[in-house]
Amino acid sequence: MNGHHVKKIPIHLQSAQNRLLIKGGRVVNDDMMQDADVYIEDGIIKQVGTNLHTPGGTRVVEAKGHLVMPGGIDTHTHMQLPFMGTFAVDDFYTGTRAALAGGTTMIMDFAIPQKGESLVEAYHRWRSWADPKVCCDYALHVGVTWWCDKVGKEMEELTEEHGINSFKMFMAYKDTWQLDDHDLLESFKQCKEIGALAQVHAENGDIIKENTAKLLDMGITGPEGHELSRPEEVEAEATNRACVLANQIGCPLYICNIMSKSAASALGEHRRRGTLVWGETIAAALGTDGSHYYNPCWQHAAGHVLSPPLRNDSSTPSSLMELLDVGDLQTTGTDNCTFSASQKALGKDDFTKIPNGVNGVEDRMSVIWEKGVVSGKIDPCKFVAVTSTNAAKIFNIYPKKGRIAVGSDADIVVWNPHATRTISAKTHYQAVDFNIFEGMEVHGIADYVICHGRVVVEEGNVRAVSGMGKFVPTPSHSPYVYGRVQERDIANAPKKVDRAPYDGPVIQLNNQGLTQAVESSIIPTNQEFYTRGAQMNDKSPKRPSVKVHNPPGGKASGSFW
Ligand code: URP
Ligand code: ZN
Repeated sequence: MNGHHVKKIPIHLQSAQNRLLIKGGRVVNDDMMQDADVYIEDGIIKQVGTNLHTPGGTRVVEAKGHLVMPGGIDTHTHMQLPFMGTFAVDDFYTGTRAALAGGTTMIMDFAIPQKGESLVEAYHRWRSWADPKVCCDYALHVGVTWWCDKVGKEMEELTEEHGINSFKMFMAYKDTWQLDDHDLLESFKQCKEIGALAQVHAENGDIIKENTAKLLDMGITGPEGHELSRPEEVEAEATNRACVLANQIGCPLYICNIMSKSAASALGEHRRRGTLVWGETIAAALGTDGSHYYNPCWQHAAGHVLSPPLRNDSSTPSSLMELLDVGDLQTTGTDNCTFSASQKALGKDDFTKIPNGVNGVEDRMSVIWEKGVVSGKIDPCKFVAVTSTNAAKIFNIYPKKGRIAVGSDADIVVWNPHATRTISAKTHYQAVDFNIFEGMEVHGIADYVICHGRVVVEEGNVRAVSGMGKFVPTPSHSPYVYGRVQERDIANAPKKVDRAPYDGPVIQLNNQGLTQAVESSIIPTNQEFYTRGAQMNDKSPKRPSVKVHNPPGGKASGSFW
């Protein structure tokens, strides 16, 4: 006993709380659909099938005509992130309550240390913020914003002792979080060493800095400057570079929040060449576009500022959805990092000061259903794959999460595919006063949401309690990610060529690295002369030569030039 007062619940109420039958629905997993009932006890799925035998006193949720799917996993959120001088307004309470309202039962947030700060301390700080507040389950990724050996050791400690299996490196945010290529390589090496997944925010921060200065000089200070300073190719270049660097190390890589067709195509090319890389896009990129940066209302335009930015191209959202369907992209997050109008106004005269971030945690499932399933681009199984299952596999929590099956956590959304709602900041649960999907009519509503076997959303009403959710440790060496790394390394290992040693003459270098020429080997060409090491049977016209500046025969062999 821990000394806390434990309130006894009468046995008949215990049954009602702990036993639940979802009846008459169509169960959807990433690989199959079946008409089946789902019986839950103590937060775990105990039976899936028809004509189930269930104990008396079991609560029944009628799901006829509904789809019964794994609760969503949002792979990318920033609740209450301290950022750009302020804090994201949705905290771990309002943010996770809103997640539940929309059918998401788990979020993955980021503990981000400042440059020079301990990663482990940052991790504990985030835990202390999240644990008392979360209404749904959560996991953490940890940021690597600087590099030294101690950072590497802390990554190991986080992996071995604190349930962290992914680390995020930023290729943007110069002068704060950005890593250069050397430090990226070091962090990739360490990720591989400890069996963690390397994640990157892929944008070229140096180019952004250059472009920003030019735009401000030109008097472009509004939110459109944000998008203009970081065009698609800036995202695509970093995506490609990250893939090349990770592939050189043989480290599995995950590209966060892919926002453009160019970046997605760079990733796709690498996947087809065999690079171990996975891609995430976000609800914002699937549901809206960058034309909003050109809206005459400053507040509206600033409300859409996030990084990488939305693209001013109306075909991007549907292209990204198609890439989720074909498997070039695998997961969907939101990058939920919300700032209200008065916070965004920090950048009213300078777009670089607009806090970056948008909403999405509440609406992700509906937006993807509307733009993906209702539009006929993906089927319900693929919807499940990209909203939960693929994330659970990549981050090594499958099939505990991301599947409706015996033994899995009872994190379930009972989805009404026919009902509609209109998204609005006036009616959403999130704390932020703006919604990038304002006015969008979506089919697909989470009629019931079950989290750990508890009904937390019931016909639109959310009954969530602070601290109800749990931290979910993510074990290292995810088989989905690391399953072929060892064999791949062996198969691709460089092979030495066995050959007889060279036994001809070798030129001598003096201690300044200059050539000590052999008189007989000096060949004049105009005013410059080249020494060549004589070699038996040498017919090659392309022998490497060393340029020297001295007259032929001017110095005796053995002296220095
Ligand atoms: O705009 C964004 N994405 N804000 C949050 C910080 C980040 O880059 O993830
Ligand atoms: Zn982010």
